[in-house]
Amino acid sequence: MTSPPPFLSFENVSKRFPDGTQALQNASFTVKAGEFCVILGPSGSGKSTLLRTVNGLVTGYEGTVRIEGVAVTPHTLKTMRLRTGMIYQQFNLVQRASVAHNVISGMLAATSTWRAMLGLFSEKDRTKVCELLATVGLQPEHLKRRVSQLSGGQQQRVGIARAFMNDPDLILADEPVASLDPKISRDIMSLLRKEARERNATVLCSLHQMDLAQEFADRVIAIRQGRIVYDGHPSNISRVIEASIYVGAGEEHKIEAREDQRPLALAHSV
Ligand SMILES: Nc1ncnc2c1ncn2[C@@H]1O[C@H](COP(=O)(O)OP(=O)(O)O)[C@@H](O)[C@H]1O
Ligand SMILES: [Mg+2]
Repeated sequence: MTSPPPFLSFENVSKRFPDGTQALQNASFTVKAGEFCVILGPSGSGKSTLLRTVNGLVTGYEGTVRIEGVAVTPHTLKTMRLRTGMIYQQFNLVQRASVAHNVISGMLAATSTWRAMLGLFSEKDRTKVCELLATVGLQPEHLKRRVSQLSGGQQQRVGIARAFMNDPDLILADEPVASLDPKISRDIMSLLRKEARERNATVLCSLHQMDLAQEFADRVIAIRQGRIVYDGHPSNISRVIEASIYVGAGEEHKIEAREDQRPLALAHSV
């Protein structure tokens, strides 16, 4: 009997942009179903590129990305997108539209365009919008409010509700709290983790903050200059890794690694 494939797998994925920028280099890892996996790295390390290969927004890469053993290709992309929810740093909401409109737009991929344009969503979908908004901590009076009238934290709550509208089993969250202050960031990360766990959705969430990764991740994959330099439990990310990822070769940060804390990949990466 063969074991089932991992929920998500990256097999030697490399991406070079036309201008020569090598954004990903031989990225290989697997993610289990239901795992909250944080992609941790500084600005420019390749986090967005990595996430965007999963939903086909980045193409022309080497290697293979698979969901439950099925390769993401132009042929399979539509089906893959239907089971994926996206959450963005800048929320990507329609500012002039209502909260309800924004949340229900999470259904667009599954709803024919003409029905959506005519606003012909079912009663069931409308009820779901109300339930989801309550789940993410918004009140009934927010339903008809324009998104532009909400705070950043409230807007990301709308973003989370929209991402779950389609009952996804995969959530791609690209720096979902980078535009929020630390207190609100923790609230939003808690909410995202709770909602994902309740639905057994797998999460790939990029972050640049080590402390949030340590607090919320089941698993951390750290990247630097397109290479994976750590893959493991958040509690094992040592100060050495932090210094390596964020500071580079600054003399004051050259801390000797304990052998047992030193990931193999890091030894080859610096
Ligand atoms: N469309 C593009 N064309 C050329 N270079 C790009 C493009 N998108 C991203 N890059 C470069 O690829 C590298 C990784 O970018 P990105 O994945 O956005 O990193 P992160 O999300 O970690 O900030 C960076 O050097 C960035 O400048
Ligand atoms: Mg990014």
